[in-house]
Amino acid sequence: MIHIVDNLTSTNAWLSKYNSEIDDVVLAIEQAQGRGRRGNTWESEKGGFYASMVSSKHELLPFIVGISIIKVLEPHCRDLNLKWPNDIIFKGKKLGGILCEDFGTYSIIGVGINLENKPPLEGTTNLSSHGIDFDKSVFLASFLFHFDRISSLSSKEIIEEFTKFDCLIDNEVFWDGNSGIVKSIDLDGSLVVQSKGQKINLYSEEVHLERH
Ligand code: BTN
Repeated sequence: MIHIVDNLTSTNAWLSKYNSEIDDVVLAIEQAQGRGRRGNTWESEKGGFYASMVSSKHELLPFIVGISIIKVLEPHCRDLNLKWPNDIIFKGKKLGGILCEDFGTYSIIGVGINLENKPPLEGTTNLSSHGIDFDKSVFLASFLFHFDRISSLSSKEIIEEFTKFDCLIDNEVFWDGNSGIVKSIDLDGSLVVQSKGQKINLYSEEVHLERH
């Protein structure tokens, strides 16, 4: 079932609270306590796209969601990228994010995209400032179509598709006082980085293109 709600705390929290079923979706016009990754807040004023869906578990869920978003936007925007593992990048700035939460037997995926809302943080952007208008229900319908299709691909195909768009590949990245060159993404979704003469796999680190 697809629910459209004016205002709620967080679409991810709402779906987990109301014992939803696989494929249930909620789209909110605004969120009072939108959640980002790592306990961050996701500013969610009117004008943005805020939706969540209950999904079967899949090791590569954030990748499937990321590729689906790219497929929705690609006909309308040039210069789109993904940034491993959860960011949507437009013209070098963060356009949106993905929050996948594991609930044991199922997962909840949350998608936030800056449409007309003005994201407050430096290094972020929205579509309307580039003259691109997007209707939320059109976005949602197209997303669900692509999500269904991409979910049925093999892990190898999903990683290959994600890699085409990932802005980290072949670049130097910095995390937790370390640095290295990104070589690839493994089939389990980890980032393969060449660092201090050896290849290492990063699983959930906050990885930056600039030294922090
Ligand atoms: C990130 O930190 O980049 C992930 C942001 C995810 C935000 C979306 S908005 C819809 C859904 N509901 C939430 O509370 N968060 C996600």
